[in-house]
Amino acid sequence: MPVPAIIFPADPLNPRRPDPHFAWEARLLRESGGEHHLVDHDALLAGQAAEAVRRVPRDSGPLWYRGWMLPSTRYADFAVALTARGGNLLTSAPGYAAAHELPGWYGVFEGATPASTWIPSDGPVAPGPQELAAAVARLGGSGPAIVKDYVKSRKHEWHEACYVPELADLPAVGRVVRRFVELQGEFLAGGVVLRRYEEFEHADGSAGNADAAAGTDGIGGSDSGGSGSSGSSGSSGSSDDSDGSDGSDGGKGDGPGTDGRAVEARVWWLDGRPILVGPHPDAPRQNVEPDLTEVGALVRRLGCRFVTTDLASRADGSGWRVVEVGDGQVSDLPRGIDPSGLLTSLITA
Ligand SMILES: Nc1ncnc2c1ncn2[C@@H]1O[C@H](COP(=O)(O)OP(=O)(O)O)[C@@H](O)[C@H]1O
Ligand SMILES: [Mg+2]
Repeated sequence: MPVPAIIFPADPLNPRRPDPHFAWEARLLRESGGEHHLVDHDALLAGQAAEAVRRVPRDSGPLWYRGWMLPSTRYADFAVALTARGGNLLTSAPGYAAAHELPGWYGVFEGATPASTWIPSDGPVAPGPQELAAAVARLGGSGPAIVKDYVKSRKHEWHEACYVPELADLPAVGRVVRRFVELQGEFLAGGVVLRRYEEFEHADGSAGNADAAAGTDGIGGSDSGGSGSSGSSGSSGSSDDSDGSDGSDGGKGDGPGTDGRAVEARVWWLDGRPILVGPHPDAPRQNVEPDLTEVGALVRRLGCRFVTTDLASRADGSGWRVVEVGDGQVSDLPRGIDPSGLLTSLITA
């Protein structure tokens, strides 16, 4: 059996080296006896997949990707371009979309994750009042909610573009949704998602306080810099939530900080088994010990080989909830955690 290699994004300024954000993973992989190849992320995003993979050797066999988020269509192009060179991404394009986009995983996780509904869109166009009213009705018509797209929220623009205090206030729902769509712009992934807001336990031990604190959950990935040096920022260029901060700057309100943020654990799954359990990258110093009994069965039912689940503890102590699911290839690792075991699992998978 050939051993899988891992593809990382190349450093846009030095295409023979991994992007600085992934250099430590590439180094640890090498130290574990693994092999990596490089892909041109900007070319992938630009729809030039064949050009993007020209540094991947021919007949490279089984491959994982660890890199910036890609829209599902671009990931599909990536898979085709690698196949044409004799490579084989171990996560198929449908598998990537299933874990990466909320409508792909929601059906499996329904009941274990906040109730959600979505409005597909063809581009960065906000849904009209009737579509919104229908979506609100599907969520029960009242109570607080969260707005995001199929992949990301604007959680650091909490009051403006993420949190809806009362679904029954349709004009207010419309304002938050329109602002969200405007800020996402061309990076809007799939469409608008509305989710019922739930109270989660926060780092300071308090219950969630959506009006004051939940927006301090960290600087979201939508425009948090992507590869930083290549102009490929935006949700499609980000590897997820981490802004590189260590989440220690505290503070309430709309700025980044740990006080008041929901306790979230990021669990990494390979072939239905947890291979790494750690804090969320937004708050890498938190200790988390989620109960994985229920979620493990759901991950196995989803059937994707390499995924992450972000879990938050209910404020009333009644258990853990799945905040979101992600493709493990584009989920960020919290700083300070040793991913050697994860990388070794990938290359022996
Ligand atoms: N349904 C919800 N109820 C309460 N808080 C939520 C809910 N959905 C998201 N949040 C909070 O908002 C943050 C961002 O939402 P998330 O779905 O993780 O989007 P992103 O992909 O931008 O990280 C979460 O980390 C959590 O703190
Ligand atoms: Mg998140």
